[in-house]
Amino acid sequence: MDIAWQQCIDPDCAATFGTDEIYVSCPTCTQHGKQSLLDVRYDWSRAVLPKAFCFFEHRWMTKGGHGTGQLDFSGVWRFRELLPFYHDEQQIITIGEGRTNLQNARLLAPQIGLRPGRLFLQYEGLNPSGSFKDNGMTAAFTHARMVGANRVACASTGNTSASLAMFASLSDLLGIVFIGSGKIAYGKLSQALDYGARTLQIQGDFDACLRRVRQIAVDHPQMGVYLMNSVNPFRLEGQKAIVYRILEALDWQVPDWIVVPGGNLGNCSAFGKAFAELVEVGLVDRIPRLAVIQAAGANPLYQLFTRQGLRWNDGRYDLDKVHALYHQMDADDVHPHTIASAIEIGRPVNLPKALRALDLMDGVVREVDDEAILEHKAMVGRYGFGCEPASAASVAGVHLLAEEGVIAKDDRVVCVLTGHELKDPDTTVKYHTGIDQQAMQAKVPRHQPTGRLANPPHPVPDDLDAIIAAIGVDVPTTLPAIPTDTKALDHLPASEY
Ligand code: F0G
Repeated sequence: MDIAWQQCIDPDCAATFGTDEIYVSCPTCTQHGKQSLLDVRYDWSRAVLPKAFCFFEHRWMTKGGHGTGQLDFSGVWRFRELLPFYHDEQQIITIGEGRTNLQNARLLAPQIGLRPGRLFLQYEGLNPSGSFKDNGMTAAFTHARMVGANRVACASTGNTSASLAMFASLSDLLGIVFIGSGKIAYGKLSQALDYGARTLQIQGDFDACLRRVRQIAVDHPQMGVYLMNSVNPFRLEGQKAIVYRILEALDWQVPDWIVVPGGNLGNCSAFGKAFAELVEVGLVDRIPRLAVIQAAGANPLYQLFTRQGLRWNDGRYDLDKVHALYHQMDADDVHPHTIASAIEIGRPVNLPKALRALDLMDGVVREVDDEAILEHKAMVGRYGFGCEPASAASVAGVHLLAEEGVIAKDDRVVCVLTGHELKDPDTTVKYHTGIDQQAMQAKVPRHQPTGRLANPPHPVPDDLDAIIAAIGVDVPTTLPAIPTDTKALDHLPASEY
């Protein structure tokens, strides 16, 4: 057996397959009429592993270049010993993804119920294509190259398509993206178009797009289409690196909570796998708690896990509950709908893996409504580097969990901000000004902004006195002072916050 293989996550099947094979679900289960996900698994006793996590740190300084330098430069591949599924380093496709920041959000923390110095924001929007997807895409493209694929495709609410299109444009693979009609933020659509991906706008939502692209990849092998959605287990291998970088930025200390928005549930699944493996190889001795936050208008995991008590149950979870929910959604003609279009998903394909991660990480799931998402997005903009709506669900979720007393004000909490603020400028402009681009085209009158942090531009005539009056003499010239108890924290390493 190789050092790495693919394995069905259903404990009653657990069939194994080589890493050179292409599957998006377990073929053995498919023969029995079931659809089960696959994992990439490793024989760690045969892997060359560092004794301590800080081994990876020196690579951070690398400036890129070719060969190993290029791998060390990547925020995914500098941890390559923890995802050793490739045969040869030459196969790795990297564009310098994953060089992202963990910000100690001292001004934001008290706004959402935490002590200053306890809230950290992991800005995955700083990836080359502007979202966390690049972490997974580098790994999936590497696998695509390993198996000799030449056409790659995905269904997407926008970010996966932007990332796929960027990687395709920088490699020798043709990118094809399926997006739902009218369901995509313009920043993301513009990327797919600009990078030259063949863009199919399907009349339907994300779930319909994923069904179709899966059909093409699985049932029409003559098309030679390699599927890049997160049912592809190799993508999730790359997304484990978000966890490694969070730990690295905290001086290898494990936080109390990791909080992440949930859509197709690939990211939270990858985080669970990362911690299961880190414990297995002895690089951490503690696992943080996981909070997955969904939009109230697209909340199947919240319905199943929190409302109905669905649990992983060692892999024998109650599938009937899942089918019943989906059946009811169909019967009631309920379709996912949220301002956070990135997570507007009704049938998350990684649901079983998310249940497994929640089990391992003693997790919770919450829903937040669109108003909470927009207010917390504005707070991340006001006190941080900004993020797109879906990402702000994690911050709104922390606020809710702090109010509930589930997260204590002294807990160390990391929110993963999954996408860049500029992905969806229309939503931001609408929040601050009341101007809705689409409504403007339809000549619907403009509304006054109602957001708590709305910061509309001031119309001013081209007149010096009027401009001086508009600037105002009573406007504070400095930002609010940092609460005093955090000043002492400046002198401490992140690990001691
Ligand atoms: N945040 C952003 C900005 C996203 O784009 C997505 C997913 C998520 C959160 C949810 O992550 O699916 O791993 O639970 N976007 C996918 C896409 C579905 O097509 O771009 P998840």
